[in-house]
Amino acid sequence: MTILALETSCDETGVAILRRLNGDLGSHLLGSEVASQIAAHEKYGGIVPEIASRNHLVYTPRLLDRVTSSAKIGLSEIDAFAATSGPGLASSLMIGASIAKGLAIGFGKPYVAINHLEGHLLSPFFGSVEGNRQIRPNVSLIVSGGHTMLVRVNGLGDYKSLGRTVDDAAGEAFDKVAKMLGLGYPGGPEIEKQARGGDPNRFDLPRSMLDSENFSFSGLKTAVRYLLPKLKGDFLADLSASFQQAIIDVLVRKTIAGAQKCHVDLVTVSGGVSCNQELRRQLGEACGRGGFEFRTAEPWLCTDNGAMIAFAALLRLQAGYRSEVTEEIDPNLALA
Ligand code: KG4
Ligand code: ZN
Repeated sequence: MTILALETSCDETGVAILRRLNGDLGSHLLGSEVASQIAAHEKYGGIVPEIASRNHLVYTPRLLDRVTSSAKIGLSEIDAFAATSGPGLASSLMIGASIAKGLAIGFGKPYVAINHLEGHLLSPFFGSVEGNRQIRPNVSLIVSGGHTMLVRVNGLGDYKSLGRTVDDAAGEAFDKVAKMLGLGYPGGPEIEKQARGGDPNRFDLPRSMLDSENFSFSGLKTAVRYLLPKLKGDFLADLSASFQQAIIDVLVRKTIAGAQKCHVDLVTVSGGVSCNQELRRQLGEACGRGGFEFRTAEPWLCTDNGAMIAFAALLRLQAGYRSEVTEEIDPNLALA
């Protein structure tokens, strides 16, 4: 079984081909390409949906060519076509979903619509034999530019929300604070770079809603905005480190509390913010202290890509799931 998946929910175009190996040997990624549009949106200070969809339309056929030739496989040899169907920007989602549906119809193969958040959520199991058989119960933190959510995972497709952000997503807070600090986009990697060697205790920034199940990061962002005009001299490294630590403290505390409450033995983290090495290290250590196994995807799989969509589609196809080509995209598609 070989799957081709398209990811066009926001401003990255992703195309990947994944093959299930025979028996219980897991899956093998034949190719994965991501085209970033950061440069195209930078001058507008944010993502412009119309530009994003036009670029998806230009990039998708190019990436399809590149992935199929590097994988040495023809489109006629693909067994199923998958695409992200939500959540995301409507005009962007429509490009990937329409192309995948067209291919499925043209080649007479199944179409599988995948929730972008499920792609992130399953990515820590990517390619593993265990992942190919079943998804072990776990508490999963999804932290990206658009979402921050803690989920109880009972198995494939069986998800219950334990809490979500009531305002900014964690990645959004990184991006907005980076902009205030005059750093580039995306802000997460920029702040992480500045934070290295900085003192995370120099500035006392708020950790909001610690006793709630939900998350809030806009107060933290506002605290940085009010603090900035008062600062003089060299503060960038210390402020970046203090801000990063405030986010990590909240994410770690709520994730561990969720895992304890749900009596699972596994914690997973995914989404763009989970590229952050300090978050990975501190969450990993907290899991160790709490007696939880900790699992995350390799950094290239944490930001938006087609491979995670292909993997979710493979697991769903194996579980007997199919989508209709008449199924519409849903910009507000819920996970749980
Ligand atoms: O998952 P993703 O690629 O896209 C969405 O689905 O939103 O996540 C992108 C987000 C951006 O906000 C970016 O700043 C953040 O992930 N990010 C990071 C790091 N790398 C990416 N945040 C903190 N530290 C990082 N190293
Ligand atoms: Zn994402």
